[in-house]
Order: sequence, then structure tokens, then C-alpha cells
Amino acid sequence: MLGCYSRIMITAANPAVNKLTVREPAKAAPGKTSKPGTMKALVYHGANLRAWEDKPKPTLLKPTDVIMKIRKTTICGTDLHIMKGDTPEVAAGRILGHEGVGTVIEAGSAVSDFKVGDRAIISCVTSCGKCMACRRGMYSHCEDGGWILGYMIDGTQAEYVRIPHADTSLYHIADTDDDEERLVMLSDILPTGFECGVLNGQVGPGDIVAIIGAGPVGLSALLTAQFYSPAEIIMVDPDQNRLDVAKVFGATKLVRLNPVEEIMKLTGGKGVNVAIEAVGLPATFGVCEEIIDAGGRIANIGVHGKSVELHLEKLWSSNITITTRLVDTVSMPMLLKTVRSGKVEPLKLITHHFPLGEIMKAYDTFGNAAKEKALKVILTAS
Ligand SMILES: NC(=O)c1ccc[n+]([C@@H]2O[C@H](COP(=O)([O-])OP(=O)(O)OC[C@H]3O[C@@H](n4cnc5c(N)ncnc54)[C@H](O)[C@@H]3O)[C@@H](O)[C@H]2O)c1
Ligand SMILES: [Zn+2]
Ligand SMILES: [Zn+2]
Repeated sequence: MLGCYSRIMITAANPAVNKLTVREPAKAAPGKTSKPGTMKALVYHGANLRAWEDKPKPTLLKPTDVIMKIRKTTICGTDLHIMKGDTPEVAAGRILGHEGVGTVIEAGSAVSDFKVGDRAIISCVTSCGKCMACRRGMYSHCEDGGWILGYMIDGTQAEYVRIPHADTSLYHIADTDDDEERLVMLSDILPTGFECGVLNGQVGPGDIVAIIGAGPVGLSALLTAQFYSPAEIIMVDPDQNRLDVAKVFGATKLVRLNPVEEIMKLTGGKGVNVAIEAVGLPATFGVCEEIIDAGGRIANIGVHGKSVELHLEKLWSSNITITTRLVDTVSMPMLLKTVRSGKVEPLKLITHHFPLGEIMKAYDTFGNAAKEKALKVILTAS
């Protein structure tokens, strides 16, 4: 065991209860690195086990790497999927987190666009910029990258992080960017809602759009769908607080219960042109299949841990398109401009703030989002 840490077990059979059992008492004050060459990090130890513990500080492994000191990071719905054990490919011992902003403290010899002291937004997807997938703009399937941060390699929920292919995976923060918190929303959720939901769903003027799930990703789809002037955006979520937020963000109709019945009623029995799945459950994908009008598009965003039923016996003649996508973050330069101009204001998605050293508490809050009225939590490093 490296250094000292407090390990906490979550009885996630019922994640709503989220009862905690402290297995080993903490020996170090939260947020304090206890040994030279080590740092504090949020470490996944298998389904429902996480710890804020000492890990070795990352070092440059390739000339294209940088090491960054994390300034701000956050927790994603996908981290909760990992914690639940939906992604068994994640190794125990992995530092989680794929979002954040930081300062470059060391740069490999082949890094040309970033130097020590530069602040940057970290893309959740690492891109070499050279392989065939990257050349096609499909960074998510980069042959030496893709979604690896906080998944296949150590991530951003730590004091320091190694970023591979820094030149093509980081985005400069300008001196004029006065608020870094809104920029954290560009690491993942805004491009995810936009690329996997709005672009794949081909939202167009006059469309009736339903977004199933008003979490940060569904709300990001709601914010960015409005670039294309759809006639209606119907938000579906059992959580009334999230629906209230959706209303402020521009939803035209809100549905809390019986989504299929309600949406068919709202659309005169026709259904919607675009159904965006932003939850990741068989039931919510099923709703999309039932509410889609002829010629419509079902755009799946959710990370699915279980197989879903595809009702081709009903859909084969409906001329519909079903899309899936791992976010590529190719839209980052465009989205950054919309955020800088105020056309999109992602600060509204942030509901809670914690010091980075209190990330265990932040996970509890985010994991009990309905009760805590949480959307995005921001963790700030000292
Ligand atoms: N495809 C990608 O590249 C990508 C990237 C990031 C996140 N994701 C996934 O997108 C999904 C959403 O992410 P998030 O951070 O917003 O998650 P979240 O857990 O915060 O939000 C999900 C929302 O769905 C709602 N919900 C639950 N059951 C529902 C139901 N039956 N009907 C309607 N709504 C329901 C919840 O109340 C919640 O508001 C997750 O599955 C996440 O893993 C995918
Ligand atoms: Zn994410
Ligand atoms: Zn590549």
C-alpha cells in the first residue's frame, strides 16, 4: 500500500441509500500529500470501492506527453457507471476522471504548442492527430488514444496528470478566459451532448426533439440543440429539480412520468423527429423506439451496461436512423467560441463546489444527485 489512505465501501446494491462504511481510518489530512514524489488521487479499487489516497506523481513517458497540475476537475455520470462496475475493463488501482483544466508543469521534447506555465482544457478524448481515425475526425477511435483518461490510463481526479499527445489533446486557455469553471464543461459534457445527441440526431429547424434524461449530458444536448431552432424540445426525467433546470435552459415541454403516453399525446399521436437517449438504460432506449416518428432519428448517448431490445418488427418500415457515438470532441473549437461569446453558458450546470481533497464527499453528493439537487460538481485544487 502506498502511503496512507481511507478506503470507503459503498453499499451500492441500493445506490440511492449510498451507505458508507469506513474500513480503514484516514491517517493523513485530506488534500495533503504525505510523501515526496507522491500525490493524492481518487482511486478505483473495483466495483463500489474508491479511495482518496497517495499515488506516485506521474512522469513523462513519451516525448509527446505533458504533466499537468490539475486546477479544476469534476465527476461524470460515466465515473458513476465505472463505480457501479458497468465497465469491468477498468483495472483496480486506476485514477478516475477525464475532465478538467490544468497548468503544464513539464513538457516532453516533442511537444511544440504547449510550454510550462500554459493553462489548458483537457479533452476527455486523447488524439494523436495522425492516425487514420484522427485524420477522419474520429478522435474517439484514435489508434494511440481515444477515451483512455481515467479509464485505461490514470485520469484527472488527482493533483497531477500525464496527458499523452498533448499538442492535439489540449486546448489553450486564453488570458481573457476569466472563468475556468465554465471551461471544464467543455472537456466532455458539452461536446458529448452536441456531437452524440444533436449532430448525430441531425436536429434541424422546426424539428420536434425529445431528450430522455436531464442530467448534465442531456442538458448539454438541450443547450446545443437550440443552435438549430427546433420547434419543440421535450425533456424527460423523473427528477423534478432537473426538469425545472431544463425549463430555464429552454425546454418547451417537460415530462416526468409515463413518457411514451405523454409524448404521444403532446405530438398528436405522431411522435418526435429526434429522440436523444441520455441515460444509458434499456428502458430509456425503449422509450426512444416507441416515440420516434417515421423518418426520425434515435441518437444514443448513454453508456449501456446491459443489452437493449431492438424492436425491428415495429421499426423496419419506419425509415428511422439509429446512431451511436463515443464523443470525439472534434466540436471543441466551435463550442469554445460559443462559450466565450456567451451564446452557451455552461456555468448554469454547476451546482456544487468542493476542494479537491474533499472529492470523496463530492462523489457522495453527485451519487445522490436527486436528493442533493446536484448537476455538475467542481473540485478545485489548492
Ligand atoms: N457516448 C459518450 O461518449 C458519453 C460521454 C459522456 C457520458 N455519456 C453517458 O451519458 C449518460 C448521461 O450522462 P450524465 O452525466 O448526464 O448522467 P446522469 O446520471 O447525471 O443523468 C442521467 C439522468 O437520467 C435520469 N433518468 C434515470 N432514469 C430515467 C428514466 N427512466 N427516464 C428518464 N430519465 C431518467 C436521471 O434522473 C438523471 O437526471 C450516461 O449514461 C453517461 O455515461 C456518454
Ligand atoms: Zn464523461
Ligand atoms: Zn490518432
